[in-house]
Amino acid sequence: MIPLLLLFLLLPSTFCLICPKEYYLVNDSKCLKAAWTRATHSEAESNCTASGGTLVNIKNAIDNHAVFNFANTAGLDYIWIGLSCFANTTSSCFWDDASGSAASYSNFDPYGPNYSGDRNCVFMWMSAGYPARWSSSNCGNNFAMYSYGYICEAPPTLNGNPYHSMLPACNYNYNRKCYMRSDDYGKLYSNQSAANNFCLQNGYTSGLASIHSKIDVDFIRSLYKGTNTTHVYIGAE
Ligand SMILES: *[C@@H]1O[C@H](CO)[C@@H](O)[C@H](O)[C@H]1NC(C)=O
Ligand SMILES: *[C@@H]1O[C@H](CO)[C@@H](O)[C@H](O)[C@H]1NC(C)=O
Ligand SMILES: *[C@@H]1O[C@H](CO)[C@@H](O)[C@H](O)[C@H]1NC(C)=O
Ligand SMILES: *[C@@H]1O[C@H](CO)[C@@H](O)[C@H](O)[C@H]1NC(C)=O
Ligand SMILES: *[C@@H]1O[C@H](CO)[C@@H](O)[C@H](O)[C@H]1NC(C)=O
Ligand SMILES: *[C@@H]1O[C@H](CO)[C@@H](O)[C@H](O)[C@H]1NC(C)=O
Repeated sequence: MIPLLLLFLLLPSTFCLICPKEYYLVNDSKCLKAAWTRATHSEAESNCTASGGTLVNIKNAIDNHAVFNFANTAGLDYIWIGLSCFANTTSSCFWDDASGSAASYSNFDPYGPNYSGDRNCVFMWMSAGYPARWSSSNCGNNFAMYSYGYICEAPPTLNGNPYHSMLPACNYNYNRKCYMRSDDYGKLYSNQSAANNFCLQNGYTSGLASIHSKIDVDFIRSLYKGTNTTHVYIGAE
């Protein structure tokens, strides 16, 4: 018990939370980025994905308050959040990061999800209307009047290299994991076991990357954006 306690007490003083490029650490918990370009919900979502994030996801009142303050300080009027509804109950509204529905926490204005036809994308009111509350809107395809700014969110990660003590450095540090690209070292492989050996030989003791969430897939994709690489080996668990 004592060694475990020591570990938890020592880590925060040695390593601190950091955010991906362009993102700010807000209230020691979320990495947020403001975007002022008016965008449809799907443009906003794909732009967030391109920078290692998703449209912001809000799971409790503390986060809702923090996101509102951040966007309001950035001078945004309405912001898309990463929620889409498919009927007018909160359990029919789903977060874009594939983390489930808004049944356990939501903050809609008095109209509720108020779904209808293509009015199934959710924004947060800023100073107008119902500040910090949410509303359904036309998703914005081809309608300039329905385009809003947005807030992207990315997972914080620890700086330094607390993940694998044997590694000299974290080449790509994301979502509390270290990644390394074999092609950065001129190594390409045509089978999984040879690729896995490369990882092990370089101190990446977990071997090929194992994937546990949509944002991890998006991050790995973003590492190869603008390259000719179309396939990478990952660990199948
Ligand atoms: C998406 O990102 C690109 C590059 O950062 C930017 O030029 C563009 O305006 C953004 N588009 C939207 C709709 O936000
Ligand atoms: C930061 O988080 C604490 C609780 O963890 C909360 O009481 C406080 O209101 C938050 N601050 C902001 C600006 O959201
Ligand atoms: C949906 O919201 C609009 C205002 O945006 C309101 O006029 C309408 O009554 C609402 N519908 C329902 C079913 O709440
Ligand atoms: C729920 O959604 C339906 C359309 O699917 C709409 O006709 C109905 O008025 C909505 N009810 C409420 C209470 O918002
Ligand atoms: C996998 O690739 C390595 C070299 O990249 C090769 O030496 C080995 O024979 C290959 N194994 C199989 C089963 O094809
Ligand atoms: C991708 O391949 C093309 C054609 O083989 C080549 O001209 C280009 O430089 C490559 N791009 C990168 C980023 O490697």
